[in-house]
Amino acid sequence: MSLLNKINTDNLPKHLAIIMDGNGRWAKQKGMLRAFGHENGTKSVRTTVEACARLGIENLTLYAFSTENWNRPKLEVELLMKLLISSLKKELETLVKNNIKLNAIGNLDNLPKVVQKELLEVIEKTKMNTRMTLTLALSYGSREEILNAVKKISDKVKNNIISIDSIDETVLNNHLYTHDLTDVDLVVRTSGEHRISNFLLWQIAYAEFYFTDVLWPDFTEEHLYEAIISYQKRERRFGKTSEQIK
Ligand code: IPE
Ligand code: IPE
Ligand code: MG
Repeated sequence: MSLLNKINTDNLPKHLAIIMDGNGRWAKQKGMLRAFGHENGTKSVRTTVEACARLGIENLTLYAFSTENWNRPKLEVELLMKLLISSLKKELETLVKNNIKLNAIGNLDNLPKVVQKELLEVIEKTKMNTRMTLTLALSYGSREEILNAVKKISDKVKNNIISIDSIDETVLNNHLYTHDLTDVDLVVRTSGEHRISNFLLWQIAYAEFYFTDVLWPDFTEEHLYEAIISYQKRERRFGKTSEQIK
């Protein structure tokens, strides 16, 4: 039986978040420059996006560039920005064809103006699409996101728009970049690293985790199916007992 047939489409993660890691090591293993790894990583992005849409996943969030990634060598950052622009141009058609809506989270103002322009254009052209929301985390840092939310809420308290007593989890959630997304159900990280690297700290409070040694450019549909099958074998108890769930 193929892996796809083992997936129960009634129990898909509603929100899948992927830390796409290992492009640099993939290239190094082949004796190539890191850039080659990033270029090949974009192919895995396309395969994953299309496979998720076909399966019926409602929300896919991809960690594409972190606030910390700005500290990489200037040339690598420039290349990643160029790749982002070319991918956005190239993939618009795929998004439209598959009825996928593009969304972006992060400190987008820090992105080069050309990237912002391209991004906004694709977001605008896909805003009516309904099959799946693809969120790109770009110049994204979770601590920064939470800090910004705290500042925005504090400002509202100061201006008597809301009271301290009314601040609850929903209010905080509504001030995050992800305000219109559901909590993350499954986090996948490739490349054998077992860490979160400042990704969606608030939103993963009750997520399941799946780590694989596969490097991102080698990640295929089958690897995605393996992650989902693993997720579906788990019992999510949310603090309750197993008996309460059944
Ligand atoms: C992930 O691959 C892509 C980004 C973080 C932009 P890396 O570039 O981190 O690859 P490794 O971890 O060095 O192998
Ligand atoms: C995390 O990968 C960020 C992205 C995948 C975009 P990194 O490769 O930057 O993570 P660390 O710094 O090694 O944890
Ligand atoms: Mg890495």
